[in-house]
Order: sequence, then C-alpha cells, then structure tokens
Amino acid sequence: MLNTEIVIINKNQPEKDKIERAAKIIKKGGLVAFPTETVYGLGGNALDGEAAKKIYVAKGRPQDNPLIVHIADITQLDQLVKEIPKRTHILMDKFWPGPLTIIFYKRDIVPFGTTGGLDTVAVRMPAHPVALELIKAAGVPIAAPSANISGRPSPVHARDVVEDLEGKIEMILDGGVSTVGAESTVLDVSEKIPLILRPGGVTREELKSILGQVNLDPGLAPDAVPRSPGQKYRHYAPKAQMIVVEGSIENQIKTISELAKRYSTKGFKVGIMATAQSRYKYTHGHIISVGDRAAPMTISSNLFTILRKFDRLAVDKILVESIPKDGIGLAVMNRLYKAAGYNVLKV
Ligand code: TXA
Ligand code: MG
Repeated sequence: MLNTEIVIINKNQPEKDKIERAAKIIKKGGLVAFPTETVYGLGGNALDGEAAKKIYVAKGRPQDNPLIVHIADITQLDQLVKEIPKRTHILMDKFWPGPLTIIFYKRDIVPFGTTGGLDTVAVRMPAHPVALELIKAAGVPIAAPSANISGRPSPVHARDVVEDLEGKIEMILDGGVSTVGAESTVLDVSEKIPLILRPGGVTREELKSILGQVNLDPGLAPDAVPRSPGQKYRHYAPKAQMIVVEGSIENQIKTISELAKRYSTKGFKVGIMATAQSRYKYTHGHIISVGDRAAPMTISSNLFTILRKFDRLAVDKILVESIPKDGIGLAVMNRLYKAAGYNVLKV
C-alpha cells in the first residue's frame, strides 16, 4: 500500500514546486496521476519498462493493451519514432496540443512494456498546462492510460482517481475537471486512407476536412474484431445492467418510460440517462440529464461522471437515450455501447 499524496494544483499556472515534486516521482520510476483536457492520465516514464509494468498493475490492465505516450514538444517525437509520415505534419500542426493520438513505428528506445509488445507507438501532445509542465519537468515522455481501474468509467475529476487508485500510486495532481470527457481520437496513418481506431475528442469530420478521406475501423462495429487492442475489452462499464435505446427521440422516450415503469414495479432501482430536452418527460426511476442535445460536447463532458454517479446510487438498471453519431456524438455513442456491453435496443 502506498501513501498517495493528493496535491491541488493551479490549472492555468501550475505551481513550479508542485510540478517539480511530481516530476521527481516520474524520474524515479514512480506513478503520478495528472489532468489532461480529455480525462485524467496515470503517468509513468514511457522509456522505463518497469514503470510501464507498474501502470498495468495499478490499473489491473491486460498487458497487451498498449499505452499512449505523451509529449510536450514536437522535438520529442524524433527520439521515439522511426519515421514521421508526411501527412502527419499537417495533423500535428492543426490538432496538437489536443485530443488526437497518432500511431507511429517505434524506435528501440521505447520499451515493448510501454507498447504492449507492438512495434508501433501511440503518441499525443495533451492540451493541458499541468500535463505539459509535468512532461517538461520530468524530461522524459510520459506513458499514460486513463487513470481508472481497467473497465471502469474514465476519470474526469481527481476524486474519480482517488476512488480507483488511492494507495496504488505515489501522487494525484488535482487540476480540476477534464472538460472534453471522451478520450483522444486514436488514428492509424499507416494505410493509404487513415483509419480511426478509437473515435474521440477530435471528430471524424475535422480529420476529413484536413485529410480528405478517413475510415472508421470496421472493428468498431458491435461484435467485430477491432485493431486497437484496447477496444476489445469491456470498458467504461458501470455496475448496473445498461440498455442503450436507439430510434426517433419520441420512440426513445416512449420505450424508456415503459421500461422504467415495468422495472420499478418489479422492484428494481432504475436510472435514466436523459438529456436536458427530455428529462421532464419521465415519471419513474432516478432521472439524470447528461447534457444538452443541441450542444453534444456537454454530453461528452458529463458522460463518465454520470456513469460513476449511477454506481454510487447503486441502481440495478440504467436506461440511456442515444444521440446522432456525428461530431463528438460518434465518440459518445462508442463509449455508451461499450459501457452497455453492446446491449442496444432499437425502437
Ligand atoms: O485522451 C486520452 O487518450 C487519455 C489521456 C490520459 O491522454 N488516455 C487514454 O489512454 O485514453 P488509454 O490507455 O485508456 O487508451 C489508449 C488507447 C487504447 O485503446 C489502446 O489500445 C490504443 O490507445 N493504443 C495505444 N497504443 C496503440 C498502438 N500502438 N496501436 C494501436 N492502438 C494503440
Ligand atoms: Mg482507458
């Protein structure tokens, strides 16, 4: 059991002494959870295979699920990767720092422990002052998966990290809420047409506007075999049984209302993940609005917090409205499907 120090840090102007203390832990091979714009990351020295091992142990993460390596400066990339394909320059210019992760062929300096045994490495530059300052002060790239126990909803508050990892890591930097919610978009540029392995904070439409064509990993479809190893595990899952209801909004409301009534009558504790527009239409169950349909970023932002909240409320069933799969909606629906174990009801 470690004594996990929780350090509140200024999001916009991180205090130097706090950053230095956290960086020292990373340099010594220890683990520090820190905020990024997407979710909190569980950081260790990306060039240290032993640190990577500790990350897997702390999270209870399967060893073949590779970590994302975070950099603070574009010059750090040369050290990590064999070549930088031409078209990635424009992507990095446009979206870094930001929620885009790009897959490259790795150099020997990146241990297989970090890449889950793959000869490729995923790299991103986070858009968060605390993350950037920490990487700079550590003087090494930082490997960081989301700072949750494997399979649980990703953490967007320091308290979520405390809930999952207290006693397992050296430090948690509390820099307030992570605003994007959905994790970074993972992009494979090795094929003629770049492939989205995981939809995320940078939308498919944004990538298309730069690259022309972008495909979605066919593995993202329910029951397919995905190429991004992390995608094959059940993820983001609350403890309750979860049903995602898809169809016209009128049909969604009608079906969820009926199910909520039926389950409540049977004695189940029901949670409904509604939206600002629909929350008042329901009469049974614990109803929570996840955000505004007209501003789907708010839904991405709140999603994981609401999933954790339903856990705390100890509901038996969670009934979830769906939103259109465009823009950030693609990432939101991907997370909802996975959280529900692809339990989707079309109405
Ligand atoms: O927004 C984010 O990306 C957050 C913050 C902390 O940066 N990190 C994050 O890490 O979501 P994680 O470990 O929860 O998800 C990493 C995803 C997994 O789906 C993993 O399989 C994929 O990236 N990935 C990592 N390296 C890869 C590689 N070499 N090839 C294919 N997929 C890779
Ligand atoms: Mg994760």
